[in-house]
Amino acid sequence: MEIKKITVLGAGQMGNGIAHVCAQAGYEVKMRDIEQRFLDRGFETIKKNLGRAVKKGKMSQEEADTIVGRITGVLDLKDAVKDADLVIEAIPEVVKLKLDTWKEVDEAAPDHAILASNTSSISITQMAAVTKRPEQFIGMHFFNPVPVMGLVEIIKGAATADSTVDVIKTVSEKVGKKTVIVNEAPGFAVNRVLIPAINEAILAIQEGVATVEDMDLAIKLGLNWPMGPLTLADFVGLDTLLYIADYFVDEFKDSKYRAPALLRKMVRAGWLGRKTGKGFYDYSGEKPVPLRF
Ligand SMILES: NC(=O)c1ccc[n+]([C@@H]2O[C@H](COP(=O)([O-])OP(=O)(O)OC[C@H]3O[C@@H](n4cnc5c(N)ncnc54)[C@H](O)[C@@H]3O)[C@@H](O)[C@H]2O)c1
Repeated sequence: MEIKKITVLGAGQMGNGIAHVCAQAGYEVKMRDIEQRFLDRGFETIKKNLGRAVKKGKMSQEEADTIVGRITGVLDLKDAVKDADLVIEAIPEVVKLKLDTWKEVDEAAPDHAILASNTSSISITQMAAVTKRPEQFIGMHFFNPVPVMGLVEIIKGAATADSTVDVIKTVSEKVGKKTVIVNEAPGFAVNRVLIPAINEAILAIQEGVATVEDMDLAIKLGLNWPMGPLTLADFVGLDTLLYIADYFVDEFKDSKYRAPALLRKMVRAGWLGRKTGKGFYDYSGEKPVPLRF
């Protein structure tokens, strides 16, 4: 099956990035959000990111305009999905919202359409089960920022057909990403490794093994990571990390994934990382200053 028309649900951080890379690959894209101002903000981000590529001489302004021209902003859900070959969902990580949306999409989208969720944690099988096409339902996990990051994790739910996996692999490659195919499990492949690694770094800080800046330097230079685990934690958001660690404990029923007390304390204090100006580093000055624990 050839995909020509892609609908992206959500024009937020991930949605506008997904719409951008799909349009850049030549797909006809509809981007849906619930209010015009969210669509406007999504388009603004896409134009800003394309503008950067133009400035660097990677594409002409004309090419950038053509890419934006392939994306139509839509508010009505039925309108958004009625002629889609593929629907990629990037709406907030709230189970009820996703399940309700998928029921509606299933009713309104053509029978042949494939349904893909960009969820970071919610079960693909659970979402697929509210549709009448669980074999055409799949996880398509992009990374942030979408135009920059090179991976899509493709997640198979209990009923996902191999033919659906093949189509999503082709689309992911066409939008310039490498893929890995994983069976559904909490955290898929990347977060399964990342969350325990960041937890362990925070535990070591809590125990006084190293300072924040030394732990970051150690992992950066010793393991060749592009940034240290505490800098990365501040980027991701400490509330998000805590949410995922708690979710892992619930799903795996295994305390080895438990969040360090320090992480919970920092979230309670409202120190959520870059987005609040303070996490493992203080971002209020010119340069990030590591905190002492
Ligand atoms: N932010 C990340 O780093 C990241 C990485 C991978 C996956 N994800 C996943 O991607 C999804 C979206 O995350 P985000 O960071 O882009 O969130 P976001 O809050 O930036 O964007 C969500 C957008 O969805 C819109 N929305 C809400 N209800 C909607 C509906 N019914 N239909 C269409 N749009 C609706 C919101 O108005 C908002 O613009 C989540 O499932 C998240 O777990 C996020």
